[in-house]
Amino acid sequence: MTGVYNEKVMDHFINPRNLGSLKNADGKGEVGNPVCGDMMNLYIKVDKNGTGGETISEIKFETLGCGAAIATSSIVTEMAKGKTLEEAEKISDLDVARELGGLPPQKLHCSNLAASALKKAIRDYRVKK
Ligand code: FES
Repeated sequence: MTGVYNEKVMDHFINPRNLGSLKNADGKGEVGNPVCGDMMNLYIKVDKNGTGGETISEIKFETLGCGAAIATSSIVTEMAKGKTLEEAEKISDLDVARELGGLPPQKLHCSNLAASALKKAIRDYRVKK
């Protein structure tokens, strides 16, 4: 594995941020990667901010997958936390890969999981609301 991933990817893989689930999550996104069968669940808590917008106040993930899937899940939680729903749903798989300093080409598809799970969790929140 060493040599395939850069240091930042390895750091998020070995020390994933915001790992776990959220009881009473306001939204949940569950996705499977059709390329490899890996799975991710992402949970969000949404709060109203002072200006009437809605902000992601808490976010957690559970991922069963490869190193890149875990690293992209971890970093997407850091990218989305504190953002408004509108800002968070604009985060793309390319943004995720870029934030990690790049992924090997054969691992680029792994970043789809994180970005789609986030979008799905936001959609789930809006449907439930
Ligand atoms: Fe499945 Fe990376 S190989 S998400």
